[in-house]
Amino acid sequence: MAHQGNVWDREYKNPKLVTGKEDPQADTLRFLKFLKKEQKFRVEDKVILDLGCGTGRNANYLADLGNKVIGIEISRTALSLAKSRALAMGVSVDYRLGDIGEKYEIEDQSVDVVLDITSSNSLNEKGRVIYLDEVARVMKKDGYFFVRALCKDGNQNVKNLLKASPGREYDTYIIKEIGLTERVFSREDFIKMYSKYFKILSLEKKTSYTTFNDRIYKRDYWLAYMTK
Ligand SMILES: C[S@@+](CC[C@H](N)C(=O)[O-])C[C@H]1O[C@@H](n2cnc3c(N)ncnc32)[C@H](O)[C@@H]1O
Repeated sequence: MAHQGNVWDREYKNPKLVTGKEDPQADTLRFLKFLKKEQKFRVEDKVILDLGCGTGRNANYLADLGNKVIGIEISRTALSLAKSRALAMGVSVDYRLGDIGEKYEIEDQSVDVVLDITSSNSLNEKGRVIYLDEVARVMKKDGYFFVRALCKDGNQNVKNLLKASPGREYDTYIIKEIGLTERVFSREDFIKMYSKYFKILSLEKKTSYTTFNDRIYKRDYWLAYMTK
């Protein structure tokens, strides 16, 4: 498997960046609220695809709400944690070891909601094209896509990393301590890329803080709600 699978598996074995939290991600909950309130769309009895599902905090929660959830994850370690947590919660999720930058074994227009919670930032540009094609292919006509992606704009830490530790591709840097390459997006870049495939309903920037090697870093994210 390509696309930094080994890096992520090492990270889950000895976490420096991921938190291992079991509660659903706060931004995911906000997205569900948006669907219910603004779109009159209830996320129950739906088919959901969680890309880079990690240890299953979102997938297990959504399965518990009564949805059919498929989780694709590149790290074997994360996936086995996700499965044991699902078992403990008494929920069933279709967890698959796989690469979100390769074709998905999912039928055309069969998914109601696709989630990419800070996962596709790890893809290279070739993988990103496949990911975009595949999400557009598997999503139903009236489906929704939530992306939480790393934002470049106005973040000094990102600027420093792009300069001091650039990756091989455009707007990528390498976090040397863990060997992870991440792609960041300017607003313009994000809109240009996603609007080729999807209609962007809402695009918002959000700041969070993360601890890494005992230091606190400011991380900025794009929160994008999209349809076809
Ligand atoms: C920052 S974590 C977020 C995990 C999860 N979405 C969450 O919100 O808790 C990024 C996840 O994407 C996974 N990932 C990265 N690249 C991937 C790829 N090419 N295919 C599948 N999963 C990938 C990583 O292993 C990791 O679990």
